[in-house]
Amino acid sequence: MGKGTIVLAFSGGLDTSICVPLLKERYGYDRVVTVAVDVGQSESDIRMATEKGERIADCHVTVDARDPFVEEHVFRAIRANGSYEGYPMGTALARPVIAGECVRIAREEGAAAVAHGCTGKGNDQLRFDFMIRASGLEVVAPIREQNLTREWEIDYADEHGIPVPVRKETPWSVDENCWSRSIEGGRLEDPSYHPPEEIWHWTTAPEQAPDIPAEVSISFEEGVPVALDGRLTKGFDLIIALNRLAGAHGVGRNDMVEDRVLGLKARECYEHPAATVLLAAHRDLERLVLTRSELAFKAGVDEKWSELAYMGLVYEPLYCALNAFVDETQTAVTGTVDLRLYKGCVRVLGRSSPNALYSDDLVSFDSTSLDQCSAIGFSEFFGLQARMRRRT
Ligand code: ARG
Repeated sequence: MGKGTIVLAFSGGLDTSICVPLLKERYGYDRVVTVAVDVGQSESDIRMATEKGERIADCHVTVDARDPFVEEHVFRAIRANGSYEGYPMGTALARPVIAGECVRIAREEGAAAVAHGCTGKGNDQLRFDFMIRASGLEVVAPIREQNLTREWEIDYADEHGIPVPVRKETPWSVDENCWSRSIEGGRLEDPSYHPPEEIWHWTTAPEQAPDIPAEVSISFEEGVPVALDGRLTKGFDLIIALNRLAGAHGVGRNDMVEDRVLGLKARECYEHPAATVLLAAHRDLERLVLTRSELAFKAGVDEKWSELAYMGLVYEPLYCALNAFVDETQTAVTGTVDLRLYKGCVRVLGRSSPNALYSDDLVSFDSTSLDQCSAIGFSEFFGLQARMRRRT
């Protein structure tokens, strides 16, 4: 008698593919259910995962989670200006969705465990483990537990009739969702190596981008992007359209050394055209409508929110409390931001909002509606203590 059914988070890549026979041969499971979750990665990736899962697993499920991913996780990241060490995080936002779907299917299938193909070196293992354990299920991570080399994996896949993509074609480890694409591994592991142009799929090299800039206008309602150039557009479609437009102008490329949760430094390359534009626009709109105190305090909240989201700790009570704070501030973040995209750069051209805390009548050098003499009294108290100290 084996251990019954196990659900496997499945991308169709080499690691998750060899997990199917490994879970039976080395772990004693009788039935492996593969789950591919669509969070906006390329259609060909999803098709490949579906076809492969159907071929090699006992049962395969592909779940379309694009809208919940965008509406629950990406929108939240926009509202919290979610970024880690300076880049718009993406992989971290999708992991809870993928793990959550696997847990849901594990329950339906009566499985006591969920498996994933993460290694023991990255952040993804922590994000998956957290979600699975928080749901009371057991975690199985064959790649991490068996200490396998890539050579061994390729031979093992061959023995089990699992097609392996030609190694030359896939020298990188790529993770993709509609918000971002990450490329790591292979020669990129040498931080002094210059990334070849071929790793970039969503962005044109800035120097090859059109000589004519593009302009785009983004409208937000309560911190959520709702329209592109005045046309109401659903979240997922808006992101895809902006990825295309901004990517064509070379916006949203990133090559950096990043600190993983475990403390390892890693060289990572990212593409996130829509995220770059939307975060720039959202930050700018916040500056128009939030008070100085809100902005100052929220910067710290955004930072803490990003740290928790990066770790995938979406059930952490503090994460929920920070979301409540962010939600409260975002009731004011409605308005439109116009931007220009040009050779890898995005620049805000103008912004407007019915909630603007801005009055040209008050601030203008040409207006007299505010009596400048009122500032004299304010100024008498201004810096009082510092002035007294200087005099002693
Ligand atoms: N360093 C990023 C993160 O931890 C991206 C990891 C991407 N994973 C991958 N298998 N390529 O969020």
